Amino acid sequence: MTDTTNGSLPATASGTFAIGGDLPVARLGFGTMRLPRGTFTGPVRDPATGLAVLRRAVELGVNHIDTASFYRRGDVVANELVRQALAPYPDGLVIATKVGPMLGPDGTPSLQATPGQLRGLVEGNLRELGLDRLDLVYLRVGGRGAPGGEPLAERFAALAQLREEGLIRHLGVSNVDAAQLAEARAIAPVAAVQNAFHVHATADAGLLAECTRSGTAFVPFFPLGGGFEPIDMTRLEKTAARHGVTAAQVALAALLAASPVMLPIPGTGSLAHLEENIGAASVLLSPEDLADLAG
Ligand SMILES: NC(=O)c1ccc[n+]([C@@H]2O[C@H](COP(=O)([O-])OP(=O)(O)OC[C@H]3O[C@@H](n4cnc5c(N)ncnc54)[C@H](OP(=O)(O)O)[C@@H]3O)[C@@H](O)[C@H]2O)c1
Repeated sequence: MTDTTNGSLPATASGTFAIGGDLPVARLGFGTMRLPRGTFTGPVRDPATGLAVLRRAVELGVNHIDTASFYRRGDVVANELVRQALAPYPDGLVIATKVGPMLGPDGTPSLQATPGQLRGLVEGNLRELGLDRLDLVYLRVGGRGAPGGEPLAERFAALAQLREEGLIRHLGVSNVDAAQLAEARAIAPVAAVQNAFHVHATADAGLLAECTRSGTAFVPFFPLGGGFEPIDMTRLEKTAARHGVTAAQVALAALLAASPVMLPIPGTGSLAHLEENIGAASVLLSPEDLADLAG
C-alpha cells in the first residue's frame, strides 16, 4: 500500500495542512459522493470503477477522503467502497464523514436527524468504514439552500459527547454561517468547516477568512461547480491556455491559492478526471491569473 505520507506524490505538490493540528493531509483530497452515482438522480455507477478510483487516488498521494453514509445508490455505498478499496488503511489516511441528513423515501438526503439519532448514524459510519474511531465528523445542517437560520447546539453537543467517548477524533460543521460556527465553537473545538465554494461562488469568503485566521480547515464542496451553481468554464480558458492545463485544473488551483487552510475534495467517478484533478496540485497561479479569474 502507498505510503500516503510520502511528500513527493502528486497530490502533495500544493503542500499539506494538519486538520485539528494533528492530522496532516495533502491539501488536495477526494470526495466520494460521485462514486455511487454521477448526478443526484443519475443511475447507479459501476462499483469496480469506484474501487479503482479510490485506489488510484491514494496512489497519487490523496490522504484526505471525504465521505458520508448517505452517499449511496442501490447497493453501491460509498463508505463500503472506501473500506473495500483501502482497508487495512494506510498510515496517515484521514477519512472524514458527515452526519445529519437522513435519506427520504426517494433516496435523497432530505430529512434531518434529531440529536438522539446521531449516535446511531456515527455507529453506522464506524461499521461501514470498519473503524473504531472516526477521524473527522461534520454535523451537516440545513437543506440545499444558503446556510444559516437554524440552531445546531443540541445536535453538535450530541456529537461532542461521542467525541468525549472516543468515537470521534475531530468535529466539523457543514453548510453553516458565521453565527452557527460560533454556536458550535462554544460547545467543542471545530477542526473543519465544509461549505459550498468555488472560483465563482465565493459568498462564504468571510467565513473562509475566519477559518484562515483561526487555522480551521475550510473544505469547499462542489469545488468544480458540480452543484446548483455551475462554473462557467469558458471564463477559465484563457488562464488554462496560458499554463497549458485544463479549465477544471484552474478551478482547483484557484481554490488552493485562496488560502493555506483550503482543502478541496473534488469528486469524480472517472479515473481520467481523477488524474486531471490531482494534477491541479502542481498548477501555480500568479496574482495576475487570480485577478483575471476574479474579474
Ligand atoms: N457537505 C455537503 O453538503 C456536501 C455536498 C455535496 C458534496 N459534498 C462533498 O464534496 C465533494 C465534492 O463535491 P462534488 O463531487 O459534488 O463536486 P464537484 O467536484 O464540484 O463536481 C463533481 C462533478 O464534476 C465532474 N467532474 C469531476 N472532475 C471533472 C473534470 N476534471 N472535468 C470535468 N468534469 C469533472 C464529475 O463528473 P464525473 O464523476 O463524471 O467525473 C461530477 O459531475 C463530494 O464528493 C462530497 O464528498 C459535500
